[in-house]
Amino acid sequence: MAESMKGLKRSNRCTEIGVENVGQVVTVMGWVQKRRNLGSLIFVDLRDRSGLLQIIFDENDIGKEGFEKAYGIRNEFVIAVVGQVEKRSGAVNENLATGEIEIRATQLRILSESETPPFPIEENSNVKEELRLKYRYLDLRRPDLQNNLIMRSKVATLTRLFLANEGFLEIETPMLTKSTPEGARDYLVPSRVHPGNFYALPQSPQLFKQLLMCSGYDRYMQIVKCFRDEDLRADRQPEFTQIDMELSFVDIDDVIEVNERLLAHVFKEVIDVDVQLPIQRMTWQVAMDRFGSDKPDLRFGMELKDVSNIVKDCGFVVFTGALENGGSVRGINANGQGAMPRKKIDALVEFAKGYGAKGLAYIAINEDGTFKSSFGKFMTEDEMQALIDAMEGKPGDLLLFSSDKNKIVWNVLGALRVEIANSLGLLDKNIFEFLWVTEFPLLEFSEEENRFTAMHHPFTMPMEEDLDKLESDPGSVRAKAYDIVLNGTEIGGGSVRISQNHIQEKMLELLGFTKEDAYERFGFLLDAFKYGVPPHAGLAYGLDRMVMLMAKKDSIRDVIAFPKIKDATCLMTDAPNVVDAKQLKELALEIIEK
Ligand code: AMO
Ligand code: AMP
Repeated sequence: MAESMKGLKRSNRCTEIGVENVGQVVTVMGWVQKRRNLGSLIFVDLRDRSGLLQIIFDENDIGKEGFEKAYGIRNEFVIAVVGQVEKRSGAVNENLATGEIEIRATQLRILSESETPPFPIEENSNVKEELRLKYRYLDLRRPDLQNNLIMRSKVATLTRLFLANEGFLEIETPMLTKSTPEGARDYLVPSRVHPGNFYALPQSPQLFKQLLMCSGYDRYMQIVKCFRDEDLRADRQPEFTQIDMELSFVDIDDVIEVNERLLAHVFKEVIDVDVQLPIQRMTWQVAMDRFGSDKPDLRFGMELKDVSNIVKDCGFVVFTGALENGGSVRGINANGQGAMPRKKIDALVEFAKGYGAKGLAYIAINEDGTFKSSFGKFMTEDEMQALIDAMEGKPGDLLLFSSDKNKIVWNVLGALRVEIANSLGLLDKNIFEFLWVTEFPLLEFSEEENRFTAMHHPFTMPMEEDLDKLESDPGSVRAKAYDIVLNGTEIGGGSVRISQNHIQEKMLELLGFTKEDAYERFGFLLDAFKYGVPPHAGLAYGLDRMVMLMAKKDSIRDVIAFPKIKDATCLMTDAPNVVDAKQLKELALEIIEK
């Protein structure tokens, strides 16, 4: 039966006790990790969020009744122990923070019993994630997850303190609001008071933080939940957390400067990593040309090469056809992979197809300089040699080529580059390569909708140098937008905002908004801009992604206490769920069976 803790007060966490406390009496409380019975002695490893501590129960110290109680202890029972700190009688455990000591128990209370958990609570568990997520409260007892969440808390606290010292104010913005323009689907909340009307949960505080600048708050920050109904991946959750900020009277360099110091501070304090400042910058165009990605992973090379010029008159119609259609032919050199078995190369071809390629052409150069190629028969020997030379192909190299529209070629080779590096073990999680990507295109043409959409969002300022092209060649206009990339993951992004009405109007027009549409959606912001708006800019980090990389994890689920799985359900609570008819009626909603 569970006992009360009345009269006892915890004196220390498990690992807050060391050799310096030998001789003292302490009261510790926690969960039973393990119990070993040695006849006249019982050993218990006690666990709390700080770690493990060994308790020794000896009938001579605790009495017959206490010893019998200790005998009944099972894993995951919650117990309180009073006892004296001693140097270990047995061997010192080098792996434990408290490996040199143990507690000789004089009192024991069982505060709560436990059923046998569905999986053992231990580090590096290889229990299936589905089971762990169903019993997330047990999973969260594991040291790995506890360390991740402790790290997350540290990052948030240090960020708040740092930004407060830099003059930022933390201001909350509404969760029940109107659609915000980040380009994903909204989560909607029906209004009871206004049947048929819906709030949208914010995809970000974008519009509100700009309004706060209009209101004169100058420097705003918030650690804030955002909601986006999009397809989930390892680095995407339907609700996630941003470190969000906005600054007035600034330009790109001011935002970058304070953020570089923030990043350096947090990475140093939390994981003792020195971020070399200034962080390097690369324009979007260079990032695409060299890495096929707007978030290049700089931990390894394998850069893309444009070989369009080399193959423009060759006999391989796949190449020349792509060039005639305005596309390009580009390749990567997987150094030393020339002996890759055919099966593995075929798997790379399939991988490429998953990224929109119609095929993937290759040249595998043998050690003796001869080569195997999927398209050699269409080319002359000279054409082949020119191509190999252009790729700096050496004996033992594997050259891979994609030809299509630029967008597909970049997408395919960009992904392939990372895939190959990953399979070669080149993605070292102990290396942290930061990069600012700048000068993004302002607009992106959506084939689907046959119109321009904003690459960042509709309030992003075009580069002054390109303003005169807004009318004549909008597709070529670059934006004052920037992303911060770490090891191939976009951990944050932002922009300088439009603060001049005529530019904002032009932008909304380019995006296909009529004046009425624009007013319907963001009228309050456009109106606010009529009453004195400071030049302003900002940025938001994905906190989950940042902590995932700091904790060297592959998924943001590992740094979120209660995450959702791929289909956006929560295995523990079973959300989303049906609601009763009464609730629907109150909301004037009816469910249509699909
Ligand atoms: P953006 O849409 O780029 O910018 O979002 C900022 C950062 O948030 C993270 N992120 C996500 N993390 C987890 N799950 C998701 N579904 C998800 N979506 C985005 C990314 C991303 O870099 N208002 C602008 C910022 C600004 O302009 O100031 C915005 O939201 O790490
Ligand atoms: P095929 O003549 O269709 O067998 O193609 C010859 C080689 O070209 C094969 O290795 C294909 O995978 C490759 N290939 C096909 N389409 C493309 C493309 N768009 N880019 C690069 N290689 C391609």
